[in-house]
Amino acid sequence: MRTQVDVFAKAREHERLEQLKTARELDMVPYFRVLEGATLPVVEMEGSRRVMLGSNNYLGLTGDERVRQGALEALHKYGTGLTGSRFLNGTIDLHLELEAELADWLGTEAALVFSTGHQANLGALGTILGPGDTVIADSGDHASILDGCILSRAKLRPFRHNRMDLLEKQLERATGDGGGILVVVDGVFSMEGDVAPLPEIAELCQRHGARLMVDEAHALGVLGARGAGTSELLGVEDRVDLRMATFSKSLASCGGVIAGPSDVVEFLRIASRPFMFTASGVPAAVGAALAAVRICRSEEGHELFARVLSNARYLHRGLSELGFRVVEPTRLPDGTEVVTPVVPVVVGDDWKAALLWKALYDAGVYVNVALHPAVPPAGALLRTSVMATHDESVLDEALERFASVKRTFEREHGELPGHL
Ligand SMILES: Cc1ncc(COP(=O)(O)O)c(C=O)c1O
Repeated sequence: MRTQVDVFAKAREHERLEQLKTARELDMVPYFRVLEGATLPVVEMEGSRRVMLGSNNYLGLTGDERVRQGALEALHKYGTGLTGSRFLNGTIDLHLELEAELADWLGTEAALVFSTGHQANLGALGTILGPGDTVIADSGDHASILDGCILSRAKLRPFRHNRMDLLEKQLERATGDGGGILVVVDGVFSMEGDVAPLPEIAELCQRHGARLMVDEAHALGVLGARGAGTSELLGVEDRVDLRMATFSKSLASCGGVIAGPSDVVEFLRIASRPFMFTASGVPAAVGAALAAVRICRSEEGHELFARVLSNARYLHRGLSELGFRVVEPTRLPDGTEVVTPVVPVVVGDDWKAALLWKALYDAGVYVNVALHPAVPPAGALLRTSVMATHDESVLDEALERFASVKRTFEREHGELPGHL
């Protein structure tokens, strides 16, 4: 007997197919655009100069001579690839140095380096959690967290973004599930750039006997006096059980890390499938990350953290003054604002967001577009982000383009959302 169902049918019938076809015909697809040089404040992209407001190179270190040198030295000493997993034949002394340096920076007993940040989340969640456990996740958590939860087959109890009353409800329910409980949140949420209220989350976890894991992908090398992330900034490092971060943002490389108690890290080392059954990151990636960590931890780190946040404030103010609806920085209970390098402009409608993106692209400014499911339905936004190495003249240039594009765009397509 033959099946009547072709598993490839979904490739020909998925819901975004028509939209994608039209967008392609109009050259309006905001994804897979080709860079023709390094990710710097101003880039060459598809034959034109464009101001880069769409990268995660928060400290601008991809162009730093010392980070390039770290990559080159590793390349020369260890070759182009390690051709195997960390577990069998892909661990070099740079991995061990990097793990020691990261654990020391984050103030944890141990750290484990993965080939990507996605695998770090998959590898930690998929191993620490099992089918008898419950995982409670914020609805705004990164996709790799969700993938790790699914891999683990633990019971998933999501709660609405940053709603502490709903987190508490889920914790109450979870205590009846019968297994261990892990709460997992982004420290800085990748699309909206807002911050998790970690002191309240840690308090709720403690009260219900749950463990807490924080993804510091967008906060490491940015927030806190040491640049150790949201947990440091909000003073809860000793109450966060596991911390995850990637090297693909401030650290100007590729890779990921899980940091926490040595027994848990040792367990991951010998039981985490996304750690054990994939090739180790290439030596150049490890060498670059190590050099970037050392810059973050030097005196210069403080200046870079301050500069990226001051640029974020500048861009936020500029876009707001032009009348765009910009997501406001998180306000802590004591009234202080937490600025992050992510400065999102709310558009709402998917098609309008793509049109606005294209108008900006043609005007020489590159930003990212976030559509559902990366954001809630009808919550399309342009995700702009800054680097420590942007200077005000480049940000002013981008703001001028935003201003002229807005005028023309609103004449043709109606008003964009303004201030709330
Ligand atoms: C919050 C968050 N966690 C994890 C990841 C995955 O990291 P990587 O891209 O280094 O695999 C990302 C990357 O986009 C992220 O934004």
